[in-house]
Amino acid sequence: MNKDIEKVLVTEEELRNISRKLGEKITKDYQGKKLLIVGVLKGSIYFLTDLSRYIDLPCNIDFIQASSYGSETVSSGTIKIIKDIRDDLTGFDVLLVEDILDTGRTLKHIHDMLSKRNPKSIAVVTLLDKPERRVADISADYIGVDVPNEFVVGYGLDYNQFYRNLPYIGILKREIYEK
Ligand code: IMP
Ligand code: MG
Repeated sequence: MNKDIEKVLVTEEELRNISRKLGEKITKDYQGKKLLIVGVLKGSIYFLTDLSRYIDLPCNIDFIQASSYGSETVSSGTIKIIKDIRDDLTGFDVLLVEDILDTGRTLKHIHDMLSKRNPKSIAVVTLLDKPERRVADISADYIGVDVPNEFVVGYGLDYNQFYRNLPYIGILKREIYEK
């Protein structure tokens, strides 16, 4: 295990099972629809690539990137779109893919913005949910697993852009971000 990790929260095997379970559910729910999978960069990339291989349907895949200015472990309310997707979402059933739903501010901003582009539907799938911390009025339609109010990294999630490549999700030692 990486020396900066306090505890592994979700193992590689559990991650694989989450993707399989959610992918199979999404496959059932999106039969006959015009699916557009939208990953929120950068945290969702590992989850999206695994999840999408369990979605047995024709689909488009695109990415959106937002930045929020705040301290390093908590997002602020000010969100800016750095990379956008197509303008016209007419006819598309959009599935937003997130790494973690924390305060919900980022996803709420993206959801509201895309809602104005005439999609047929928008749903949210998040690998991790930290319901205790929710501020914005948004919830996920598909949730991998709930996590406690701890700062977690790995499998796409970062601290200061590091640790994304850990193959599991772990709690980062407090001394790393409190020093
Ligand atoms: P929100 O706008 O507060 O919901 O923040 C969402 C974004 O903050 C996520 O997409 C993550 O990039 C980041 N984030 C929130 N909590 C954590 C965490 O525990 N570890 C790593 N990133 C986090
Ligand atoms: Mg992020």
